[in-house]
Amino acid sequence: MSIKFGIYKCKVCGNIVQTLIPGNGELVCCGEEMELLEKQYEENELGEKHVPEIYTMHEGCDTGTCTEVMYASIIKHPMIKEHYIQFIEVINELKNEIRIKFFNPEDKAEYKLTEIDGKLEVLELCNIHNLWRNKND
Ligand SMILES: [Fe+2]
Repeated sequence: MSIKFGIYKCKVCGNIVQTLIPGNGELVCCGEEMELLEKQYEENELGEKHVPEIYTMHEGCDTGTCTEVMYASIIKHPMIKEHYIQFIEVINELKNEIRIKFFNPEDKAEYKLTEIDGKLEVLELCNIHNLWRNKND
């Protein structure tokens, strides 16, 4: 049985899928059961940061339209073809809303979150070190 918003990876071909509406069946790819990616949240000895940072910035203050804008980003991590952040996903469980921003190598792994508030879970996927999360509570 899959779990809501669970992210699964095929150990053979690297396919990655996410469950939107869970069912009772097993997720299978390349003839094998797909692996549910664990949400890691404690930095280790990798020497790079994976846990997404969530912060607000004031914008437009010099033009009189000062607003607080929320961002999620992973700055201290390589963004090269061999090793990069593939996406940042924001889950607002209370509002049943998810958003995903995908990145290419050499992009800045930063997601400007407009018109969203409340308790958020932010996930990021590294192409080598898999899934990481943070929350804004
Ligand atoms: Fe990584």
